[in-house]
Amino acid sequence: MGIQFDAINLSTAMVGEHGISKGERKRAAAVAQQALKGFHRLVDSGEIGFPHLPFRNQTVAAIKRYAAEVKGSYDTVCLIGIGGSALGAWALDCALRGPHPVQGAFSTSFPRLVVLDNVDPSFVMGALASMQPKKTLVVVAAKSGATAETGSVFLIVKQWLEAALGRKAASRIVAVTSENRGDLIVLAKQEGYRTFFLDENVGGRFSVLSPIGLVPAALAGLDIAKLVKGAAEMTALCWKESLDENIALRAALDHFLVWTLRGKTIQVAFPYSNRLWGMAFWFRQLWAESLGKKTDRNNADVYFGQTPVAALGTTDQHSQVQLYMEGPNDKVFTFWGVEKFSDSGKIPKSKTGLDAFDYLGGQTLAKLLNAERKATTAALTATGRPNCTFLLERVDAAHVGAFLQLMMFETAFLGEMLNINAFNQEGVELGKKYTFGLMGRKGWEKLAGEYAAYEGKQKKASE
Ligand code: PA5
Repeated sequence: MGIQFDAINLSTAMVGEHGISKGERKRAAAVAQQALKGFHRLVDSGEIGFPHLPFRNQTVAAIKRYAAEVKGSYDTVCLIGIGGSALGAWALDCALRGPHPVQGAFSTSFPRLVVLDNVDPSFVMGALASMQPKKTLVVVAAKSGATAETGSVFLIVKQWLEAALGRKAASRIVAVTSENRGDLIVLAKQEGYRTFFLDENVGGRFSVLSPIGLVPAALAGLDIAKLVKGAAEMTALCWKESLDENIALRAALDHFLVWTLRGKTIQVAFPYSNRLWGMAFWFRQLWAESLGKKTDRNNADVYFGQTPVAALGTTDQHSQVQLYMEGPNDKVFTFWGVEKFSDSGKIPKSKTGLDAFDYLGGQTLAKLLNAERKATTAALTATGRPNCTFLLERVDAAHVGAFLQLMMFETAFLGEMLNINAFNQEGVELGKKYTFGLMGRKGWEKLAGEYAAYEGKQKKASE
């Protein structure tokens, strides 16, 4: 598998007291093995299901069949979802077809992916104005089948589609949701939408390799078979005991140590690739929601969390690196590098006679990008800032599938090391419940009352 993890710049030998010593790492080896066993138990018991996703050949085949059936009938895939029901598909599309503003012209043979993951009316209405209903295929994705953002945008898009297509609109809608809960499945059955299901034991942010990510990916023309093949190969490595082979476990242990022993409470995910930029946003959700927890598994208050920040190299060298070099040493940097680019971006030879230009001529953008990544790691190391690097041989379906699976395993292992439940998200739920109350959803009146009390308190405090 062409993914390497280089953690030498997390060592005391490289970053002094902010790093991890050989002794500390050696003593913690048992922590890694316990985490591996603990997570294995969760998967074996059926509580957690994402490791099985790359092996669901029938699901992949069914999605591919559906994509082949509708191929050529649309130039836009409109995905309506939020959080784990949107970020994965967007990350896959950016990685495998190129960053959104510079993708090729869209057509029925190269459909674009429009992800409606917000309820900003200017965004949603602007998107509708840019799409043609007769050439749009709608994917509505919600595990709970009850998310206010997804439900509201879907009602608008549904009406827009029905106004143009009448009864045929239903044949242009695919619902991806839980089979046995939530109102989306009820509506889908009533209206006769095509449906794909998500297993109950796969959480939203761990669902990119389920139909939640695979349906929009396949409809956009991505090779989902290669994607899951790469993820399957990585899964096999993620169950190995050897830290040399199991990069996910090694990375989890290193991040655990630098976080808990050296107090690095912020992790900067720093891809040096616009194609991996979408994945940095997907990763932010994965890391933040999984590892930001009030209580541990023994119900003791722990208030754990490492704030994930997304930075893009080289762009953010010119906006963030001043802070990273000279500000508080409270961060660990995880660079995501790419060895081979699909096009190296040759810079033409130049004889301007000007120093700032002529040395660049005849070289490549790929070389410059990687030189800047290496230079930034060296500069951070020189000022005692712990950093590590994931290096992908290339950004293709197999490597992307493997890297996604690696990060999900790493997150799960780190949850075990911290003794927290990385798979729930109570903190997200309260805001969702207040929204139901505020928007007048039946059965949520108590939450509306609680919100009114909060406003009353605010009023009093401002007197
Ligand atoms: O990881 C999670 O479970 C959440 O962040 C969800 O993905 C997000 O809240 C969207 O939920 P749903 O798919 O039910 O609309």
